[in-house]
Amino acid sequence: MRIAMIGTGYVGLVSGACFSEFGYHVTCVDKDERKITALKAGKMPIYEPGLEDLVGNNVRGGRLEFTTDLAGPVAKADAVFIAVGTPTDRRGEGYADLTYVFAAAEEIAQSLGDYTVVVTKSTVPVGTGRKVHKIISEKAPRADFDVASNPEFLREGAAINDFMRPDRVVVGAETDRARAVLRDLYRPLFLNETPVLMMSLETAELTKYAANAFLATKITFINEIADLCEATGADVQEVARGIGLDGRIGKKFLHAGPGYGGSCFPKDTLALVHQGKEANARQRIVETVVAVNDERKLQMADRIIAAMGGSVAGKTIAVLGLTFKPNTDDMRDAPSLAIVPILEKAGATVRAFDPEGMTEAKHHLKGVTFCDNAYDTMQDADAIVILTEWNEFRSLDLARAKALLRAPVLIDLRNIYRPEDVVAAGFSYTSVGRRSVSPPQASARRPRSVSAVG
Ligand code: UGA
Repeated sequence: MRIAMIGTGYVGLVSGACFSEFGYHVTCVDKDERKITALKAGKMPIYEPGLEDLVGNNVRGGRLEFTTDLAGPVAKADAVFIAVGTPTDRRGEGYADLTYVFAAAEEIAQSLGDYTVVVTKSTVPVGTGRKVHKIISEKAPRADFDVASNPEFLREGAAINDFMRPDRVVVGAETDRARAVLRDLYRPLFLNETPVLMMSLETAELTKYAANAFLATKITFINEIADLCEATGADVQEVARGIGLDGRIGKKFLHAGPGYGGSCFPKDTLALVHQGKEANARQRIVETVVAVNDERKLQMADRIIAAMGGSVAGKTIAVLGLTFKPNTDDMRDAPSLAIVPILEKAGATVRAFDPEGMTEAKHHLKGVTFCDNAYDTMQDADAIVILTEWNEFRSLDLARAKALLRAPVLIDLRNIYRPEDVVAAGFSYTSVGRRSVSPPQASARRPRSVSAVG
């Protein structure tokens, strides 16, 4: 089985490397010459745990190649995957920009050889598969091909495991031949008894959006419950466990925080809202989720200011974590991009550290002082703010932190500490969906940090 993977972004590169690990011959194609040159030299364009080794092993095994030439690999492929970007269209309103998908379809049409399945892996609005089919048929009327949809459900930071051990594989295909090729491709997963769901093109395309929108809704739901917990003295961690153990609800994606970010949920929820409006089937729940999540990121800045006594003017804030989640260098729609500028505008100086995200963050957060490690950020700072739950922030030496800080204030927007531990170390502690707490002497000095949030 030979595969051509068009686009070596996050989805294309991980999927291509994983297919080669299954033993197929995969050629990853990208127009970006610098990216291909770097990949040939073993340098990854993104940070993803395990990816460099996976790519290296399969390149050495002769199963994985990188090129800027689309025609050669497409001509020989049994399956051509379109895994190019579908960013939010610059015209606004959340419409997904399909320029790259359609351009890839046109190029593929010119090079198809024997029977080929052209598979969209990019997240594309319902109806795109049919448009891809039309483009290829018009360009290459005699081509022997089918179009299929095979959305991905990989999480950044855990993508290889998600590919190798998925909960399910979704395939939209409408001929037996196309279904057979896709079934063959995923045969290695049959050992794990992974369900491979066969459906229509439209259903597969919508399944992807529905999955992301549902997860975003779950997060937004628990975030609002967290607000209510704070206002009433309840604990959101316990509420999440209390509802999550109900199999109908499920434990995952009930972790309250500063709002979802990343390259997928913000873009895909907007695109779903837009599709709903166009189809006259409004997605009002998801519309609300988008609005509530946008607002939440801004509210987080207010929460920090309140926890620091109501004003951050002239104060220094040590920010730990900038990426939208740990184990990635991705800064797209990260809560930090909304929160940090507000703090700066309110007069704070921000010192920050992120294990992988700082190269990218430097382009977006111009006024920030980027530090070498977590403790470096704390030098003479008036508070620590945890924005991303990187493992290395989970067990900070609080005594050392306290000695570096001007004031022992910890604001943990990911709930990675136990309030009693932080208070025992002499800190005022503000988290999400839980009561803010202070050691007795700190509450005497700074009563507002105790009561301002909640
Ligand atoms: C998401 C989906 O989880 C993947 O299944 C999907 O394939 C991918 O989008 C995509 O469409 O490509 P990803 O964006 O990598 O994956 O990250 P998630 O782990 O889903 O986290 C997204 C955001 O939600 C992060 O900002 C994270 O901090 C936040 N989140 C997640 C919470 O605030 N609470 C939770 O309980 C879970």
